[in-house]
Amino acid sequence: MHFLCSSQGLAEGQSRAFSVDGIELFGVRRQGQVHLYHNRCPHRGIPLNWAEDEFLDDSASLIHCAHHGALFLIESGECVAGPCEGRQLQALGCHEDSQGIWLKAPAARADGGR
Ligand code: FES
Repeated sequence: MHFLCSSQGLAEGQSRAFSVDGIELFGVRRQGQVHLYHNRCPHRGIPLNWAEDEFLDDSASLIHCAHHGALFLIESGECVAGPCEGRQLQALGCHEDSQGIWLKAPAARADGGR
């Protein structure tokens, strides 16, 4: 597993970018649960964010792509509006314990697609 940050480093309703072994990913905490996704929009295959750590829409209830406005469910990564509607962000395995938030290895498999 790869350590990402302490639990306090990703507060409720916040999003945060991480980079592990050259893999770009981001995390969102919602209702206490951390969700990790590959930072790649299914529309154009590019990172979703322009600003560091900004992955959510104004209401902080959906993941937002800064490029063409696609919106994704935080819990599943499903795109519910925008040019890639019906497609998915690629979820990554997450583990949280008393030390903090971990990405379940191996991160490189994230490039394999699912
Ligand atoms: S690249 Fe994300 S909506 Fe177009």
